[in-house]
Amino acid sequence: MFEIKKKEQLAPIIYQMEVSAPRVAKKALPGQFIIIRIDEYGERIPLTIKDSDPEKGTITIVFQVAGKTTTQLSTLNVGDSILDLVGPLGNPTELPEGKSNVICVGGGVGTACMYPQVKELSKRGSYVTAIIGARTKELVLLEEDFRKYASRLIICTDDGSYGEKGFVSGVLRRLLDAGERPDLVIAIGPLMMMKVLADVTREYGVKTMVSLNPIMVDGTGMCGGCRVTVGGEVKFTCVDGPEFDAHKVDFNELMMRQRYYLDEEKVSKEKHACKLQLGGNQNA
Ligand SMILES: Cc1cc2nc3c(=O)[nH]c(=O)nc-3n(C[C@H](O)[C@H](O)[C@H](O)COP(=O)(O)OP(=O)(O)OC[C@H]3O[C@@H](n4cnc5c(N)ncnc54)[C@H](O)[C@@H]3O)c2cc1C
Ligand code: FES
Repeated sequence: MFEIKKKEQLAPIIYQMEVSAPRVAKKALPGQFIIIRIDEYGERIPLTIKDSDPEKGTITIVFQVAGKTTTQLSTLNVGDSILDLVGPLGNPTELPEGKSNVICVGGGVGTACMYPQVKELSKRGSYVTAIIGARTKELVLLEEDFRKYASRLIICTDDGSYGEKGFVSGVLRRLLDAGERPDLVIAIGPLMMMKVLADVTREYGVKTMVSLNPIMVDGTGMCGGCRVTVGGEVKFTCVDGPEFDAHKVDFNELMMRQRYYLDEEKVSKEKHACKLQLGGNQNA
């Protein structure tokens, strides 16, 4: 069992939790994720390791309430436990050796997923620009955390309620238009955001990595659930990724695959909400 040591609500539907997982904490590297199953009736969902503390034996996750499992997770409190937690899974981010100039772009909850890369790059003495985007001010995540490690932090909101008005892709284009040529761009967020960013950096020939979030089941490369097409080849995100060359990813196919189970996910969420209201068994 993996006990929840801390819980914090970062935004209306976004939570941060510190969970006891000593073995995972010892090995976790930027870009890796875990798969959890809350209880014996639960489905398995992947979540990025935002941070880890090998001494305390804890890892930190940040999640957005999307459907049944994340709703259920959000109802757990300090002292409660998660039944299964496996990791660290996936390949760590391939960061440039030594000092480099990297732009990390995060959108929505993806902002939290790119925090470990920003922290690691800062430790290596790199010049790291973090561009974080959110729909509106109250959804801007982890500003203080990023201020600690980013050499430059640019915040933007879709409605202009905080930071610059507009999308992260607009900010990145402005920097590239102004002549900046980073060694690498890392982008993590909604698929549409990553697709648009890939189109922008392709124009300028800037190497870009994206972290993909297809539906995952086993996380071991056996079920094929997380398959994506990259450079015309089939890849399994859980073992070959989760990060891939943005200029080679077939985003249209991935967006279509992510919608396959929308009807089932809706039914599952509604059934769960109904049980919560009735105060009955939340697991069935
Ligand atoms: C490598 C990886 C890392 C991720 N890291 C984070 C993170 O740090 N924070 C965060 O909030 N979200 C993260 N996600 C997405 C997260 O796994 C989904 O939001 C979650 O599975 C939704 O489950 P649900 O039952 O609450 O919602 P559902 O109603 O089941 O699904 C809502 C949406 O989430 C996606 N989804 C559903 N099941 C899965 C699944 N098993 N695997 C992947 N996506 C799924 C689908 O696009 C679906 O439309 C990550 C996904 C991947 C693949
Ligand atoms: S999740 Fe099953 S192959 Fe990747």
